[in-house]
Amino acid sequence: MNFTLSSKPISDIKADCLVVGLPEKGAWPASTTAADEALGGLITALQKDGDATGKNATTALVPLSGQPWNRLLVVGTGTDKDRSPSNYRKSLIAVAGQIKDGPSKHALLALADTPVTGPEVSASEDAKLNLIGRILEDQSYRFSGFKSEKLPERKLSKVTVWGSGSGKALKAAFNLGLATGRGMNLTKDLGNTPPNVCHPTWLAEQAEKLAKDHDVIKTEILDEKQMKKLGMHSLLSVSAGSAQPAKLIVMEYRGGKSDEKPYVLVGKGITFDTGGISLKPGEGMDEMKYDMGGAAAVFGAMQTVAETRPKMNVVAVIAAAENMPSGTATRPGDIVTSMSGQTIEILNTDAEGRLVLCDALTYVKKFDPEVVVDMATLTGACIIALGSHATGLLSNNDGLANDLLAAGERADDRAWRLPLWDEYQSQLDSNFADMQNIGGRPAGTITAACFLSRFAKDYRWAHLDIAGTAWLSGKAKGSTGRPVPMLVDYLMSNAGK
Ligand code: BES
Ligand code: MN
Ligand code: ZN
Repeated sequence: MNFTLSSKPISDIKADCLVVGLPEKGAWPASTTAADEALGGLITALQKDGDATGKNATTALVPLSGQPWNRLLVVGTGTDKDRSPSNYRKSLIAVAGQIKDGPSKHALLALADTPVTGPEVSASEDAKLNLIGRILEDQSYRFSGFKSEKLPERKLSKVTVWGSGSGKALKAAFNLGLATGRGMNLTKDLGNTPPNVCHPTWLAEQAEKLAKDHDVIKTEILDEKQMKKLGMHSLLSVSAGSAQPAKLIVMEYRGGKSDEKPYVLVGKGITFDTGGISLKPGEGMDEMKYDMGGAAAVFGAMQTVAETRPKMNVVAVIAAAENMPSGTATRPGDIVTSMSGQTIEILNTDAEGRLVLCDALTYVKKFDPEVVVDMATLTGACIIALGSHATGLLSNNDGLANDLLAAGERADDRAWRLPLWDEYQSQLDSNFADMQNIGGRPAGTITAACFLSRFAKDYRWAHLDIAGTAWLSGKAKGSTGRPVPMLVDYLMSNAGK
């Protein structure tokens, strides 16, 4: 697919399909008025006759003849009041859904002058072009490599996005959006890949591939022997029952000054979570292939960084392991010593995410991080608390937490903060070790983060629980590419500082 930005008057741009936004009430964007004039009042008539209502994310497709365009797609953009980033995004998704499978080969989108307003949100044209680029890539995603029948090639091969100018900032914003969408698509590919293919060694190969494709990325893979030497017995306790060896995957992007502290991303990479000896129930267990969603998001963000090359340093660390039951698996009751020296009584082998992350959090100290953000499909409790709309966020630093929340708002990839108060820590008290790996049913997301916080004392740290947001279940089963948009927005807003 070819995506370009153009600032020519829309009537000078020939295309198979022109797409304009139509408000339900109130003033029209200039591009809609221009199209209406060029088409002799057609859009006015469509609205008057009720063929296009303007209700947000509804569409009307009209064939044209004798025009620079063969058809017109009108997308409703709602009233001024409900033109939030989220509603704007929904209208863009509706457009992408209409055009992606043809019949048009070339679509022209005039949607960057639709006003977008809301708390914490910049309604700038940059921000809208960023979102348009991202949604175009995101919505063109397909995962069909495991079907024997090849999907037909898409008719749509070119999308021109109309912008008011051709300035550098607009182009950069549009390109960043496209790169973010491609990053999300990498995240989705890794997540959707079946767990007999996507195991820790395969994930490590994907890191090597990323480093090969982008010379700004360097990678280092630690094997079990090296991890043992470092004392990562907590991480290794998770892979103990698996035939697949664990890997610690490190990727470094150095786009800033050599003395600038890096932004460190840490991802949970459980390529399959059976629960181990604390075996999970069978129903829906296939979805535990998505238990490497944190790792997948780190990959997606790193690819976007590699493509757009911000002036900053970013380090990614992925703790990859498979959680299986077997004669060599860790038992409930086992006590292990983590890399930090703290001992852990493993009361439930299904609380394995924190066991791999804690050693990764200790390991990253060597990078002297500016901040550390870990992401993990960590607790079912987070789905109970927040459902699938918000990522759970817990942090030992208010500034970092607020920056991530704001990035999530801007990118419409939102998080919601939960407390990390000391009062919850005692739920992790163990009779036999420094701590136990579960805190009981109350506040499961918080006690999981409390566990991690004990390994993240030396730097500013935030934890994203993406158990509800990383993938969708049911008919639309598939990886979402979240929270790549939030991460990219956060990183870019700190670049060059
Ligand atoms: N990967 C799961 C969490 C999960 C479950 C995410 C379902 C999304 C959907 C994690 O490893 C896990 O099993 N957590 C346990 C923790 C419990 C044993 C304290 C959970 O949430 O039940
Ligand atoms: Mn588990
Ligand atoms: Zn898990």
